Amino acid sequence: MPPSLRHLRFVMILQAFVALFLVALTSSSPVVEKRQTLARVITKCTKPNTVALTFDDGPWVYLYDVSKALIAYNATGTFFFNGCIYDADEAKRVLYAYQKGHQVASHTWSHSDLTTLSWDNIHDEMWRVEQALQKIVGVVPAFMRPPYGNYNDLVLQASAVRNQSVVIWDFDSEDSIGATPAQSESDYDQIISKHPSTILALNHEIHETTAHQVLPYALDKLSKAGYNMVSVAECVGLPAYQFIGSPEIRDSTWHC
Ligand SMILES: *[C@@H]1O[C@H](CO)[C@@H](O)[C@H](O)[C@H]1NC(C)=O
Ligand SMILES: *[C@@H]1O[C@H](CO)[C@@H](O)[C@H](O)[C@H]1NC(C)=O
Ligand SMILES: [Zn+2]
Repeated sequence: MPPSLRHLRFVMILQAFVALFLVALTSSSPVVEKRQTLARVITKCTKPNTVALTFDDGPWVYLYDVSKALIAYNATGTFFFNGCIYDADEAKRVLYAYQKGHQVASHTWSHSDLTTLSWDNIHDEMWRVEQALQKIVGVVPAFMRPPYGNYNDLVLQASAVRNQSVVIWDFDSEDSIGATPAQSESDYDQIISKHPSTILALNHEIHETTAHQVLPYALDKLSKAGYNMVSVAECVGLPAYQFIGSPEIRDSTWHC
């Protein structure tokens, strides 16, 4: 074989290998990439001078008073709902929060630690709340808070597939871990005295003292410190919902 032909043959073999490699790469990558994409994790607000007050574990009976306190201070709250929210009283509270202009979001269905669950069960926990919010309010949330703030890569992959950001916090009022109202108020005093640019605060609307004592106290101090008290979506500059429609009419599918 003359040298030029040998060279040509070498080039052709090389090209064949490159082509095979590319085929292998493109045929396997869609699945791999989808699973590897991790959802955004939000631990802080980004818009200066904002505070996002968040309320987990409702909708509970104190939701109305939480909303009234927020509105009295020109504040918007963010509610991370979980549980069987189809119950007539609960559905009413969920819709009330939305109609008062607060952000409604998912705290997943049965308050399980998502890091202990399989891929399918994580999706199930998330999907049930999204579907319920779509029926009750007419929106699909763009934000979710994992119970206990616990997440792993599988949870972040599932959240990415479901087009949701994962919201944690950078300030805990400690109302869910046994703090007295005085301790929670002192926690708020301490953070406000440092005057950080932003605060993303964890609270629980199921505690009577959070609704009636700590929240009004914190709102007064935060507004005197000059903060804008906005939703999580607004404090990070992202849309609150993936989809916005209208509430559906209750039917037999509204059950747990
Ligand atoms: C109410 O809050 C919004 C959003 O933070 C802010 O833009 C507006 O200036 C506030 N209005 C009053 C009267 O404080
Ligand atoms: C994903 O969510 C964003 C809002 O966060 C929304 O604008 C967009 O339409 C959603 N994409 C899909 C495919 O639902
Ligand atoms: Zn919770």
